[in-house]
Amino acid sequence: MKEDLQKVAEIISNSKSMIAFTGAGISVESGIPPFRGPDGLWSRCDPKCLDLDYFHLNPKDSWLAIKSIFYDFFGEAKYNGAHKVLANFEEKGLLKAVVTQNIDNLHQEAGSKTVYEFHGNSQKLVCLQCGKNYVPSEVNLDELPPKCVNDKKILKPDFVFFGEGIPETAYRKSLQAARNADVVLVIGTTGEVMPAATIPTEAKRNGAVVIEINTEESNYTESITDFFLQGKASEILMEIDELIS
Ligand code: APR
Repeated sequence: MKEDLQKVAEIISNSKSMIAFTGAGISVESGIPPFRGPDGLWSRCDPKCLDLDYFHLNPKDSWLAIKSIFYDFFGEAKYNGAHKVLANFEEKGLLKAVVTQNIDNLHQEAGSKTVYEFHGNSQKLVCLQCGKNYVPSEVNLDELPPKCVNDKKILKPDFVFFGEGIPETAYRKSLQAARNADVVLVIGTTGEVMPAATIPTEAKRNGAVVIEINTEESNYTESITDFFLQGKASEILMEIDELIS
């Protein structure tokens, strides 16, 4: 592993257009469980709470699950060493963009500036009727489903539900960044969910070196990964950051 870390540190130092592709695993050390795996969120909450049709038909039921997971739980999570190292890489000019599947806003809170949010962000709610935007602190989440002050219509978290399209700008910019990348860090993701999971593959197709950081093997490990660094994202990224600086 040690020689791999040295090699990876060298590749990152010499990269010209590196990107990071992150999933729920990068936020596990901030106290946010992953979606899949033994105590994953989908083992405690039925994914139907994030199904768009179900939400429209059962807004209160859906909101009860959404509030308990994405607002009560995520609420107090802080960014961890892994988020911070990626922000440092960007500041050093080593990282061009983070493409994240996460909606927890932790990359931005760690200081990353160029973050493409493939699945939106939980820090925004939107009125389905008039399109007015809210931040969670402006909304009383003790009365569910929350309603718009303008037209009393139901507010929806501005993150992507199953059955909903990917935000067009985030999708386009993520693809562009992947096609230009010479290195892609794939951090804490099973690679289960499309179309997000195509981003590392798109980078590989265009000649990028794939460096994967995960506690377990993923859909990428045997197929496109060039360097598989097994372990916790914050520990591995902080070691690499040390070697680089
Ligand atoms: N460090 C690195 N990787 C970790 C850590 C850690 N400390 N802890 C867990 N992991 C890895 C797991 O091994 C797994 O591969 O993180 C990954 C989490 O996988 P998922 O829960 O499937 O999360 P993700 O791949 O981001 O899911 C993609 O699915 O439900 C949708 O919209 C949701 O964005 C999410 C998408």
